[in-house]
Amino acid sequence: MAKEKFAHLMELPPETPQPNVYPLNWVTKTKRMEEIWDASQREYWDPKKLPWDTFDPSRYSWEQREAIAYWWSILSVFDASAPPVFAAAMIKTYEAHEEDAVRRCFFSVTRDEQNHEQMCGMAITKLLEAPSYLEYEPKTEIGRKAKKNVQWLYFNGGRYWEGYKQAVPKYSLAVLFSSFLMGEIAAATIFHQMAAGCTEPVFKEAFRMIGRDEGRHMAICMTMMERDYPKMDLADKPVITKQIRAGYLFLSGVLFEPPMEFWDIAEDFIPAQREIEAVARTAGFFVPEYEAKKENWKNAMLNMKGVLDKYGIPFPAIPEVGITGEEVLDIHMEDIIPVF
Ligand SMILES: [Fe+2]
Ligand SMILES: [Fe+2]
Repeated sequence: MAKEKFAHLMELPPETPQPNVYPLNWVTKTKRMEEIWDASQREYWDPKKLPWDTFDPSRYSWEQREAIAYWWSILSVFDASAPPVFAAAMIKTYEAHEEDAVRRCFFSVTRDEQNHEQMCGMAITKLLEAPSYLEYEPKTEIGRKAKKNVQWLYFNGGRYWEGYKQAVPKYSLAVLFSSFLMGEIAAATIFHQMAAGCTEPVFKEAFRMIGRDEGRHMAICMTMMERDYPKMDLADKPVITKQIRAGYLFLSGVLFEPPMEFWDIAEDFIPAQREIEAVARTAGFFVPEYEAKKENWKNAMLNMKGVLDKYGIPFPAIPEVGITGEEVLDIHMEDIIPVF
């Protein structure tokens, strides 16, 4: 249908109906966002330019290669869906006519997560000599267990996208990304630990870069919360409490261990994962042990609790790591607003 014409009727055009995807303005309010953007420009890195010439997968046994590739595959279950998740969020910053620097910061997260995904891909394809675990023919028992776990992780991860797409227009950015901070705190810590403990130069460098990126994502989230939470709608508070619990359940898959009541996985999943991680450690690939992961995760949540307390938002109970709070039941993959 042809659009109605106005130019022959009036001197100036009518108001553009809102919401409209392009703001055509560049508002600067939150100075901190501008600083984070500048840091993202300075700290940009290219996975292809890491010291790949020093990386020789044949130095490792096939069991070790399969075990290291397994860990990168777990990460990729999260990071391979992060670019579209943040691309959708970035579009929302335009629709919402967010401040200029906020739009750029969401663009930087999309770009960073794309790098993380690319890094997972480079590590996995070199280690397995296959496009992914899904196409890979395992060479050892460890590889067979790893492939089965990856298949289940992939299946689970495929279940939140429809729900996310529906949630994006429904909630404000501050609500959508309320559990973002917790994930970023824990991710930043785990990557710094892995960088410190890892012996392979190319992985060490990648973890350092990814950890630094996650630290910036954390700062973006903090800044948004400080800006928006003081004027938040009371009705949003229970949604945030639920999102924190959902974020815990979802992100435990990479930052801790996947909780059985939420992840659709069999009894042998976690024992297999522990066995595979032990093999990765023998190869100088430092995956934190159960207790260290738990401590890290717990600290991230206590940090988050400190932030929410300031704004009078109840924290959910996380009995898995010994945190008491408001009981939140019945969360499914479809309820997840993924954060990385
Ligand atoms: Fe990431
Ligand atoms: Fe991130």
